[in-house]
Amino acid sequence: MEPVAKVKRFCKAKPNQITDGCLRAGVFPKGFCPMNGSRLPLVRTAHEADARKSKSESFETDVLLNSLDDSEICVTPSMRSLRAEEYTRAFQSFLDHSTEHQCMDQFNKTELPNIVASVGNGKSTISVLGVGSGTGEQDLKMIRIIQSQHPGAFIANEVIEPNPHHILAYKEAIKNSPDLKNVSFTWHQQTSMEYEKQAKEGNVEKKYDFIHLIQMLYRVENIANTIKFFHSCLDCYAKLLIIILSGNSGWASIWKKYRHCLPPTDSGHYITADDIKVVLEGMGVKYQVYDFPSVWDITECFIDGDTTGGHTLDFLTGTKDFMNTAPLGLKQQLRQALGQPECSTKKDGRIIFRNDLSMIVVSS
Ligand SMILES: C[S@@+](CC[C@H](N)C(=O)[O-])C[C@H]1O[C@@H](n2cnc3c(N)ncnc32)[C@H](O)[C@@H]1O
Repeated sequence: MEPVAKVKRFCKAKPNQITDGCLRAGVFPKGFCPMNGSRLPLVRTAHEADARKSKSESFETDVLLNSLDDSEICVTPSMRSLRAEEYTRAFQSFLDHSTEHQCMDQFNKTELPNIVASVGNGKSTISVLGVGSGTGEQDLKMIRIIQSQHPGAFIANEVIEPNPHHILAYKEAIKNSPDLKNVSFTWHQQTSMEYEKQAKEGNVEKKYDFIHLIQMLYRVENIANTIKFFHSCLDCYAKLLIIILSGNSGWASIWKKYRHCLPPTDSGHYITADDIKVVLEGMGVKYQVYDFPSVWDITECFIDGDTTGGHTLDFLTGTKDFMNTAPLGLKQQLRQALGQPECSTKKDGRIIFRNDLSMIVVSS
């Protein structure tokens, strides 16, 4: 399905705003602060507190409270996060059933050429850094667009990617792209944090003309510091591109209600573009946001024993074999929530989850 609309917003950061998004009361009500990675004491959300206050008001309320009983819906020892290979499989299933990459293609077609036209300011070699590049499809498309805007320029492309399965698939994709010329590839099989540490310890101040962090900030140890570090790696006339789920996606709605019921992912940050904007405003940098719609067909989630449905739920929850390891109450509630209008719409008998993306472009 083709994305149908986009909204472009130009933002100038307001100076002197708080640098740590977690200081904003109520942003992370479950006590986990993804901006600085710290865990704060667990507090109840306003929603839960209100529900408990009105306990005696009606029988219906009592039923609601009973169904929120932690033992029925919260993470149990049998639930665990996806391992690298399992994540790769679930991610591929997500790509196969969503318009995630088509949505990025639309951005690549309509906006990216202009965005990269000025990078490097006429240099003969353009340095590109992909952080959390996955299997490289997006990287290769972007390299081609940079080349089309800078004919004759050499592209020195570096990749930070911790998952060895993804690096192998990326190398395979290069082999299958004989048209790709004038590009070198340098591999850093490590996390962004490990790269940052190594660069700082070795006193290496490598600068890049274009850096992208595409759908990967959920998994870094410290989001604000990661953005600050990679922004500091930009050369003059350079751009940093962050692609992340938008605040009105179905994910945001699910995370608000259920993130405390799921096993921790590598770092387990449930963040959207709204949180990234807070960080950027704190940094006082200029940025532009481009919102693009994207959808994910999650119909099979509702069919017991369906393999695609299983992978869908595993990717959605970051849990290995969610359907067979999560408590019954959690499965029921999650499925019910997935069918609500905040998350999805029904079309031709299919359940279509909102996977809208925000493309955030920061200048050096
Ligand atoms: C959802 S995938 C996105 C891949 C690719 N950018 C895309 O959009 O197709 C997230 C990627 O980030 C990688 N990743 C996870 N934690 C990371 C970290 N701490 N630093 C760098 N990359 C990380 C994962 O291995 C995975 O390849």
